[in-house]
Amino acid sequence: MPTHKLLLLPGDGIGPEVMAEVKRLIAWMNDHGLGRFDYEEGLVGGAAYDAHGVAVTDDTMAKAQAADAVIFGAVGGPKWDKVPYDVRPEAGLLRLRKELKLFANLRPAICYPALAESSSLKREVVDGLDIVIVRELTGGVYFGEPKTITDLGNGQKRAVDTQVYDTYEIERIARVAFELARKRRNKVTSMEKRNVMKTGVLWNEVMTVLHKREFSDVQLEHVLADAGGMQLVRWPKQFDVIVTDNLFGDMLSDVAAMLTGSLGMLPSASLGEVDPKTKKRRALYEPVHGSAPDIAGKGVANPIAMLASFGMALRYSFDLGRDADLIDEAIANVLATGYRTADIASPGATVVGTREMGEAVIREMKRLAAA
Ligand code: IPM
Ligand code: MN
Repeated sequence: MPTHKLLLLPGDGIGPEVMAEVKRLIAWMNDHGLGRFDYEEGLVGGAAYDAHGVAVTDDTMAKAQAADAVIFGAVGGPKWDKVPYDVRPEAGLLRLRKELKLFANLRPAICYPALAESSSLKREVVDGLDIVIVRELTGGVYFGEPKTITDLGNGQKRAVDTQVYDTYEIERIARVAFELARKRRNKVTSMEKRNVMKTGVLWNEVMTVLHKREFSDVQLEHVLADAGGMQLVRWPKQFDVIVTDNLFGDMLSDVAAMLTGSLGMLPSASLGEVDPKTKKRRALYEPVHGSAPDIAGKGVANPIAMLASFGMALRYSFDLGRDADLIDEAIANVLATGYRTADIASPGATVVGTREMGEAVIREMKRLAAA
């Protein structure tokens, strides 16, 4: 069995707490012959700023480039609200995405039956939900230039962000979505705003052409992004794979998260192109929830999104799909037995902390593995 090299970047807020549960899981997998993982740890976000004055150091970037996968916690918090824009905590995450060329962000939103009551929507709307948002991650308004604030000299300032997409960027994210849909329910919904934005016009055109040329066996539908947001809360089960740009994907995936009961439930994988020589791809795995500074340090954060993100690493970076299934199944079973962290607590449930939840998932994996 090959040894997999991981770089763990816990970051800020609840990041280190939920990452501790991943370390517990790695230790258990290593002890039980389910995997061989070596890891190093680094600083990112506010933690890196406090130590080095930047949101991620060149040294940590080099380690990320060399790792088989990066496992990321969360960044940011009010403590760093006033630091210069270029070194704000989020800049560390954005640099990792950009320099590792992680253009494809997969955000599955699954509503475990046990959690249907935790969603703010009615049970029948979310029960059994299983969709994936494929978010473009290295382009669009996040990185487009110019990106400036100019003093106009008359007491006014002007801020500019640039939304820019080239054909190849749309085509490669479309390909990820179509290929993923083929392994699922074979349907892709592309969301843009072609009624207002030129990037939306091109996005729509490239999706349509590629679909016709290479993926006509997959069902493709185009929905304007605002209507798509509305449909996501009206009847989300109509979707299978949603593909959309960086900014719409950011917003729509937070909406999708709440369908599952809590932001604390959503894992994500950020993937680069497969290297034709090594067959490997750069990858970073992170929970969709942020650093949750309000509950940081209290040991009450939900580690499920973080553990499920590690599960995605097993699936997408290490071809350990069966072990990833084991994690997912253990999470479902632990929820079904009534274990809840505070964010997903319901009347009558056993409310536990981060560590107890992590231990319960590993205990259940042990039981499943032995069965
Ligand atoms: C996310 C986050 C990031 C984003 C922030 C932390 C820069 O909200 O991963 O969804 O906007 O992409
Ligand atoms: Mn976000």
